[in-house]
Amino acid sequence: MPSESDTPPGSGSDKLNELLIFGDSETRRKFLKRIAATSAALAIAPTLLNIPSLGAAEPSMTPAKPPSRDSVNVKLKINGKDYTLDVDPRVTLLDALRERLHLTGSKKGCDHGQCGACTVLINGRRINSCLSLAVMHDGDEIRTIEGLANGEELHPIQSAFIEHDGFQCGYCTPGQICSAVALLQENHANSDEEIREWMSGNICRCGAYPNILAAIKEAKGKVRT
Ligand code: FES
Ligand code: FES
Repeated sequence: MPSESDTPPGSGSDKLNELLIFGDSETRRKFLKRIAATSAALAIAPTLLNIPSLGAAEPSMTPAKPPSRDSVNVKLKINGKDYTLDVDPRVTLLDALRERLHLTGSKKGCDHGQCGACTVLINGRRINSCLSLAVMHDGDEIRTIEGLANGEELHPIQSAFIEHDGFQCGYCTPGQICSAVALLQENHANSDEEIREWMSGNICRCGAYPNILAAIKEAKGKVRT
């Protein structure tokens, strides 16, 4: 049986998983095991090697943190699954996703609504989850990067990002992809200028903008709505 290191360069979904933007927890673990063997781990291990935070939460599972006196019970429907949480009313949706439900595909960049790394879809509309409170979304349909693929079949936007190298470090990519999904559903991809304008809330410090633009143009007409 081949070891992980013998595994040949994989499919598109493997590549996305390795960049933590597809959401498969098992592949994230493989990725972290690989980087743990490099010097990079020295800098990022305290954050990334928090293995218990990497597994996706089970629906309706009550997280370990005991509710405080001020906690509010909220039911979140995320990627078609129901979760019940007791949360402090000040907890953002992003923190609830990442810290409570361990859905770490959505990224925290600025935490101030300025970078778009935390973009998720609420009832089909994109929002910055760092600016929205979890308790505001009781009963909403929430879709995150973990819920875009259909099993092993990538969403057309995900496939197009791979095909056009729409990412380098990949940190902004979950937000870029969620935003692009909404952009196409909104019919705001009718010209390069329009795409750039309607994607302007998603910042990429690696400067992958030309590739992101190409990916969105490629995916136009292929997305399921
Ligand atoms: S982390 Fe939410 S916009 Fe930057
Ligand atoms: S790919 Fe690195 S920030 Fe966008």
